[in-house]
Amino acid sequence: MKILTVVGARPNFMKAAPIIAAINAHNERFVADSAARPELQVERIRHILVHTGQHYDEFMSGSFFNDLNLPKPDIHLGVGSGSHAAQTSEIMKKFDEVLLGEKPDVVVVVGDVNSTLACALVTSKVSFDSDGSRPVIAHVEAGLRSFDRSMPEEVNRILTDHVSDLLFVTEENGLENLRNEGVSPDKIHFVGNTMIDSLLHFKEKAEASTILEKLRLLLPGGKNGEANSATQYALLTLHRASNVDNRDVFLSIIAGLEELAKDCPVVFPVHPRTQRRIKEFGVEFDLGKSAGNHKANAQGSGIIVTDPLGYLDFLCLMKHATLVVTDSGGIQEETTILGIPCVTVRENTERPVTVQSGTNIIAGTKTHAVKDAIRRQLSRKRENGAPKNWDGQAGARIIDIMVRRHYEKSSLQSSPNPHTVPLEDGCACR
Ligand code: UD1
Repeated sequence: MKILTVVGARPNFMKAAPIIAAINAHNERFVADSAARPELQVERIRHILVHTGQHYDEFMSGSFFNDLNLPKPDIHLGVGSGSHAAQTSEIMKKFDEVLLGEKPDVVVVVGDVNSTLACALVTSKVSFDSDGSRPVIAHVEAGLRSFDRSMPEEVNRILTDHVSDLLFVTEENGLENLRNEGVSPDKIHFVGNTMIDSLLHFKEKAEASTILEKLRLLLPGGKNGEANSATQYALLTLHRASNVDNRDVFLSIIAGLEELAKDCPVVFPVHPRTQRRIKEFGVEFDLGKSAGNHKANAQGSGIIVTDPLGYLDFLCLMKHATLVVTDSGGIQEETTILGIPCVTVRENTERPVTVQSGTNIIAGTKTHAVKDAIRRQLSRKRENGAPKNWDGQAGARIIDIMVRRHYEKSSLQSSPNPHTVPLEDGCACR
């Protein structure tokens, strides 16, 4: 069985890593099984990792491969930035050639970025032979809906789901959305959240990060990795086009943070898109300081601006934060599991479970609403909610389902094989 996984942009890496880890675990387990029971003729999974190059900087891509122990991509398409049309079409052209060369059994796409849609769409139309055979398309993080089609990600989600053969859903709301859209139930699997697999796996390792020390957020005598050793601080991320491409919206959100920034430092790792806009808008952060050489003002407050951070540094900052303000989708989920109050500066969320059983509030982008949500969250008691199946096993479930489906399909295509032996976990191997 040959699986090809596509990654392209920053939020893809932590979602794909647990799938690759589960493939490695499958291969180790089955090699051991085949040594013990050679009659099984176990099949290893061959894996190909394709990076589209949608994100290409060290801090948007390279560092994540190190932090998440991801293998070097087998194929790099080097697509880079561009308009949605240019980026999507460039990925499609290059990925078509990859598919025809590699002929995988399964193509795995994750999340909702342009790379996700581009590769799913190409796979849905490729044809390897005169029978029109093509790989199975597996979409990880299927079924999420913001019901706001002005978001490019919403268009990517809907289209990707509707060309996919296996839809791996992270939360129960996703099941309902797919049912309402008429997706056949036999394609849908509620497996949990691979991004949370990564978080649970790397949570302890993130404590080795020295980011708190670098940003002078340790209490006097506090040490990296020690509980309650950090000062009170908030963490801010803003990168969504609807928030940062419009000066008024951007300034409205920043004004909503002023009160908070007077009370405690607000760490703001700035996405490249946002960095560009800040320059274009000529925005100066009154309280702004650069990381490393910032001097806290009299109240120990201010906005601490940094370049985008790697996975482990950011996870460490999230774990110790008093509050997180964000327009990211994934951070709403990560704060839910970490029990950190989160204010989402958007009008909607495609991840309602983070509000229903998590720590998230959807504030919108108006100054007074942002201020109000921050005040409410600061007085909220800390709580940990774990939505169903967010237990670190999503990657393993996904690979299990893919393997079963592959063997079912192969045994239907070939004549009944007397050597087919059902394994304990229900997979059948020839
Ligand atoms: C993309 C995703 C978004 C995701 C976000 C995470 C789509 C439609 N959007 O948005 O869902 O939340 O990634 O970051 O796929 N740039 C760099 N270096 C890089 C990558 C980008 O400087 O490595 C700059 C370029 O100027 C580029 C801009 O950032 O034009 C935006 O990058 P792009 O990939 O188009 O979209 P994101 O805003 O990152």
